[in-house]
Amino acid sequence: TEGVFQPKSLAGKQVLITAGPTFEPIDAVRGITNISSGKMGYAVARAAVEAGARVTLISGPTALAAPLGCLRVDVNTAQQMLDAVLAHVGKADIFIGVAAVADYAVKNRSEHKIKKSDANLSIELTPNPDILATVASLPAAPFCVGFAAESQHVLQYADEKRRRKKVPLLVANLAQAAFGADDNEITLLDDAGHHPLPKASKQVLARELIQHIARMITPHA
Ligand code: CTP
Ligand code: CA
Repeated sequence: TEGVFQPKSLAGKQVLITAGPTFEPIDAVRGITNISSGKMGYAVARAAVEAGARVTLISGPTALAAPLGCLRVDVNTAQQMLDAVLAHVGKADIFIGVAAVADYAVKNRSEHKIKKSDANLSIELTPNPDILATVASLPAAPFCVGFAAESQHVLQYADEKRRRKKVPLLVANLAQAAFGADDNEITLLDDAGHHPLPKASKQVLARELIQHIARMITPHA
């Protein structure tokens, strides 16, 4: 039933989204990051705004402009991303973790630029907190959605990840096809099973994801 009186599917909802890569400094001028462009997370933020939600976007370093109508908080490291998420999660109804969070940070980060002549250079790593799992295990957790970019065994790994992180909805995609591209091919995994979506632009897929989330949180929508 369409028409001017149809309310937007996420009207009145607060949505918190992470996007982009994180950057883990090695020294004053170098760091560890990944090839996430942020396009999928920004598309999800745009789709949530279109659906009437109040959107906060916690973003790692990207070359993208903030989607109109959302609050963007810029961070570099996974720890900063977690801190920003925890500062905003209290009022969130929905959390969508789209960011490609670095799994490790550099343990003894050097304040000054490391010199080529430094002998026996080695970099020690320490595990980063899992932002999605942390949010999903909060006593008053919002509805949590994860993303999984896998390079092989996509659906099997994604199913395992959904169970491990205890999230009701996980979006699976093939890393080689997704990173940096404007198009994507995703499968939505929830208790009802696998919902493959035809290959489309990240913006179209983001809208379908937001409608799927809206149906899950308000079954009559
Ligand atoms: N994620 C997160 N914090 C981390 C790592 C991942 O919030 N430290 C989130 C991502 O934003 C994504 C989901 O968890 O929504 C899956 O990320 P992924 O890297 O695929 O999962 P990992 O548990 O890190 O497993 P692995 O990298 O070994 O596949
Ligand atoms: Ca990871």
